[in-house]
Order: sequence, then structure tokens, then C-alpha cells
Amino acid sequence: MDTLTLHRPDDWHLHLRDGAMLAAVLPDSAAIMGRAVVMPNLVPPVVTTAQAAAYRERIRSLLPPDSRFEPLMTVYLTDQSDPQDIEAGYVDGVLSAVKLYPAGATTNSDAGVTTLGRVGRVLERLERLGMPLLVHGEVTDPDIDIFDREAVFLDRVLAPLLARHPALRVVVEHATTSQAVDFVRAHPGRVGCTVTPQHLLLNRNDLLVGGIKPHLYCLPVLKRAAHQQALIAAVTSGEPGFFLGTDSAPHTVHRKETAVGCAGCYSAPIALQLYAQVFDQAHALDKLDAFASLNGPAFYGLPANRDTVTLERAWVVVPNRLEITGPASAVRPLMAGQTLAWRVR
Ligand code: NCD
Ligand code: ZN
Repeated sequence: MDTLTLHRPDDWHLHLRDGAMLAAVLPDSAAIMGRAVVMPNLVPPVVTTAQAAAYRERIRSLLPPDSRFEPLMTVYLTDQSDPQDIEAGYVDGVLSAVKLYPAGATTNSDAGVTTLGRVGRVLERLERLGMPLLVHGEVTDPDIDIFDREAVFLDRVLAPLLARHPALRVVVEHATTSQAVDFVRAHPGRVGCTVTPQHLLLNRNDLLVGGIKPHLYCLPVLKRAAHQQALIAAVTSGEPGFFLGTDSAPHTVHRKETAVGCAGCYSAPIALQLYAQVFDQAHALDKLDAFASLNGPAFYGLPANRDTVTLERAWVVVPNRLEITGPASAVRPLMAGQTLAWRVR
């Protein structure tokens, strides 16, 4: 098979940032994806429906008039979130989901939830509305090893949360472990997960062996190869709980290549090609449509996109940098300088 036509995919987890960065990175997603769930971890975070609506306007104003790309907005859950505001945003079609970041778990998450007991009223509202809760599934307890933070979150936080809120629907964002795969399978229809290209293509050896690679540092951090294999098996199964979410998260080179480097990989221009490579290597290209284009909309209760994209086999070198406002603010894409086996026609 040298070409592959899919329903146009959607990105169920994307960081578009704001200002000049937004303007620079938006075309890379809008060229390929039909819709994207836009993460709210701006500085300051998007916490109200009005802020999400204003952010959506800033995104839309940068799209060419003929673009059909649709940003699906989220708000950042805080101890102060107002259930009424979230319900109004959902009913009016401004909001698609609510994002839970445990306070301090990742980039720009200082305003996150400190204790889940404080957001019970919001969670009850989400249950009633059928509105998904998207979770950054890592505990932040300093005693927990960084490689165990996702598995411990599922056990100690998410399982009890689902028991307390029996109708709550949850997406485990950027799943990285076999425990997350098992957790999704144990809650069919109720818990789904997004999986990034980097967690399918790479493991912690890629990050650390032969020198530290700051551009492969993201959160949750890359795990050992056995987890990578479990993720590949899950996404290539075509099962409905697993769907595409790039977690494309641009940071400028100088914020990545420094003593304390930021977490996040910029994958938007090449993510679909990388997923194709993973599915191709697993002899499962026939399952890419389910993962990339069908399972996500089904989980969110939306129709699949009606138009298509076609991938074709071709050797393409990934550019080394994308300049935002000039050379000083460049972003280095994931796999920069490496050769991809697929391109989007
Ligand atoms: C994301 C970012 O930079 O906003 N970083 C990352 O490593 N994935 C935040 C997140 O999704 O955790
Ligand atoms: Zn993210």
C-alpha cells in the first residue's frame, strides 16, 4: 500500500498557545486536522467560558477564510470553577470539555486543582451533562517516582473518582503506560485515552542514552519500552477507547535547551505522518482510520469528518526549526533533521 486515504483526522489534545506562537503553529494543525481540542494552559489559564470564547475568536481570526478547521475549547478546572458557567459554556457550544491538571503537574499548571474534594459540584454537573473530563493523569506527590506518577494516579485518584461519580466520562490524556491501557479497557465507553506520537515511537532510552535529548522531554515523561509496546498494541487494535491526541506543545529552543528545560514536544506538522509510520511498522495501517478519525468523534458524540486526507509513501526530511518572530524564537519540531517515510498529499 503506497497511499492511504482516511477520514480527515482530529487532534483530541493540542496546545496552540497564544499571540505570535499561536499564529506560527496554527497553520500546521489546521492544514491536516479537522478539529482539535485546544488545551487551556495559557498564562494566565483559560478558566471561564468567556475566556474560552475569546480565545476561540483569537484562533479563528488567524485562520484563512476558507479553512474548515474547528477549535474545540476547554476550560481549566480550578478550586474556584463555577458549575453554572461551565454548563452554560457547554450548552452554548463554546466548551467541549473540562481539563483537570493536578496543581504543579506540568507546564503552566500552578492554578490546577489542589484537592478533588473541592470540585465535587463541578464533577456532578459534568456527569449530568455527559461532558467529558480530560485529565492530566499524574500525581504530583514528591515521594512518587516520576516514572510511576501515571500508574499511581490511576490507582489512587482516578479509580476512586469514577466510583464517587458513576456517570462521569473521562479521557486519560497522553496515556503512557500499560496500566493506562488496562484502565481504559476496564471502563469501556466511559474512559478513553489519547496517545501521542512520541510515546508510540520512543521510550526513555531515546531520551537518555547517549546524551540527554531536551527536545524529547515531555510530560508524562517517556517510559520504558514495555509500556511503549503496550501502547502500540492498544492503538493498532482499533478499539474505541484509544484515539489520536498529539499533545503538540511548542516551546522555543532556548526554553528547551537550558539548565531547567520545559516539557513538551512540537509535533503538529508531522504527527499524522509519525502515526502512519507506527501503524505501518505494526502492519496495522487498516486500523489508522479508527484511531485517527473515528474513535475520538465517537467518544465525544460527534460525527466523523466527511472529507478525507491522503498519505503517501515518500522520504521527507523534517525541518530543523520553525521561526516564530525571528531566529531567537525558533521552535524545533519533534524528529528535526530526521527522515519520515510518509507525507500528507
Ligand atoms: C504541555 C505544555 O507544554 O503545555 N507539556 C507537555 O510536556 N506535554 C503540557 C502537558 O500537556 O502536560
Ligand atoms: Zn498537553
